Amino acid sequence: MKTLLELITAEMREAFVKAGYDEELAKVTLSNRPDLCEYQCNGALAGAKKYKKAPFVIAEDVAANLNDSKYFESVDVVKPGFINLKLSAECVASYLNDMAKEEKLGVSEAEKPKKIIIDYGGPNVAKPLHVGHLRSAIIGESIKRILRYKGHDVTGDIHLGDWGYQMGLIITELKKRKPELPYFDESYEGEYPEEAPFTIGELEEIYPTASAYAKEHEDYREEALHATYLLQNGYRGYRAVWNHIMNVSVADLKRNYENLNVEFDLWKGEADAQKYIPDMVQMLKDKGYARYDEGALVVDVQEETDNKEVPPCMILKSDGAALYDTTDLATLVQREEDYHPDQVIYVVDKRQELHFIQVFRCAKKTGIMPQETELDFLGFGTMNGKDGKPFKTREGGVMRLENLIREIDDEMYRKIMDNRTVEEEEAERTAQIVGLAAIKYGDLSNQASKDYVFDVDRFTSFEGNTGPYILYTIVRIKSILNKYREAGGNPDGLVIRPAENEYEKALMLQVLKFNDVFDAVCEETAPHKLCAYIYELANEFNKFYHETKILSEEDEEKKAGYIALLSLSKRVLETCIDLLGFEAPERM
Ligand code: ARG
Repeated sequence: MKTLLELITAEMREAFVKAGYDEELAKVTLSNRPDLCEYQCNGALAGAKKYKKAPFVIAEDVAANLNDSKYFESVDVVKPGFINLKLSAECVASYLNDMAKEEKLGVSEAEKPKKIIIDYGGPNVAKPLHVGHLRSAIIGESIKRILRYKGHDVTGDIHLGDWGYQMGLIITELKKRKPELPYFDESYEGEYPEEAPFTIGELEEIYPTASAYAKEHEDYREEALHATYLLQNGYRGYRAVWNHIMNVSVADLKRNYENLNVEFDLWKGEADAQKYIPDMVQMLKDKGYARYDEGALVVDVQEETDNKEVPPCMILKSDGAALYDTTDLATLVQREEDYHPDQVIYVVDKRQELHFIQVFRCAKKTGIMPQETELDFLGFGTMNGKDGKPFKTREGGVMRLENLIREIDDEMYRKIMDNRTVEEEEAERTAQIVGLAAIKYGDLSNQASKDYVFDVDRFTSFEGNTGPYILYTIVRIKSILNKYREAGGNPDGLVIRPAENEYEKALMLQVLKFNDVFDAVCEETAPHKLCAYIYELANEFNKFYHETKILSEEDEEKKAGYIALLSLSKRVLETCIDLLGFEAPERM
């Protein structure tokens, strides 16, 4: 289905052509003066030079052709040459009724669906999840859902950090604590028994202990580095321990991400890319892309147009060890082989931007990825505490994700109990649903690349630009629809009637914009614009609600029209929050 902007742009083009002007001038936009009009066209101003005419004259010529248009209630020409448009109430209602019939509420699927991989989440196995990983999960999940809604073929890959030094540290610490385990023997040939020699609780304690100890003791650190080296070079017993760590950790990660409503299609990681490294390195050498620089193997990626130095991509350290660059390049080899994607999007902390510039350039230059594949880095900013500094616990430590979520849920629980709309037991579950919305909306309503302040009080408020406010609005609509049902009505299949007052029309105009807004959100991968849209939608709904007798309306047809509008508003809101990655409770 065409969006309303597309329809009225087509109408405007025709009017320009009929008046003898270039149709390219007929660009219609949302009005930036909503007090005067709803949409506007400034094409006459742009055409003045070309036609050597006053813009006002051009605008009047064009407007004369729009008088009979079924779309507009009024077409006003204002000095110096704006064409201000107001949609007719009939047009609005009929468009909304068409929208309601569409499964995707008027969003058209991409004509050429792309195969897209989104690399997000990126937790490091055996290390606790912290707030930095939260942003990647929240933003990546929303972008995945948005692109999928548009009809693209999207695969979300968690890209585990599962091949680094932390693994060597854990092996070393385990060897110290449980030397009787068979894995540390060089001649270990056994299989990988099911039962892990530690629980997730122990594992979470082992890593920080070992990490702190290694900082103080060089021998220990050397041993951990060596263990990492042996693991990466196929030492069988260490691989067995690695398997245990993976099993225990991944089970825990799955539980954590499930609580966040974040779902990955692929649970691949750095370790999976390792087998692609030898051939890739050989290719880079054979084709002359790689050179040795003080013993290290590097690929130059500086370009002539750079005004800053872009250091070479590091392929192998002088001791032959692979690095972060290497792993990401090998992962691209793997992705190209398995999926041949049209686009790969990385949702990672923006402080890693240089790394991705190097990797993308190297991949394109060396043919690891075809020229036409889009490689995009979507860097996000830091989540700060109220003091404007990176988020910390009260004691000044790194905030663990679980604790942060608990803090929000507790606050939500308190607020929900204050409202006394639900029983204690339900309040707990509701607090989790609303708490998640508070966190996700708090994050997504900011442009991803910007830093933002995580403010528990503000995020959990039922008023203002917050997740709970949006949910509260949805719950309010649900409750009206339920009452309508209880009184014997059926809210499905009713027809929206032309608006009779300004609040009703304002709500309708906001609902009507959904597919235009969605397309922009998708095009710009900008979930924050979807948040801005639903915030405005919730505001328009609440104004309408306060100004209108809905259930007590005596004219049954009019009431049915309101109910139809409410149903559609609810569908749009629910679709949007699903695209943002959260849901609404029944009551709150
Ligand atoms: N594990 C990394 C970290 O915690 C993030 C991984 C991002 N993705 C990637 N393909 N490099 O910083």
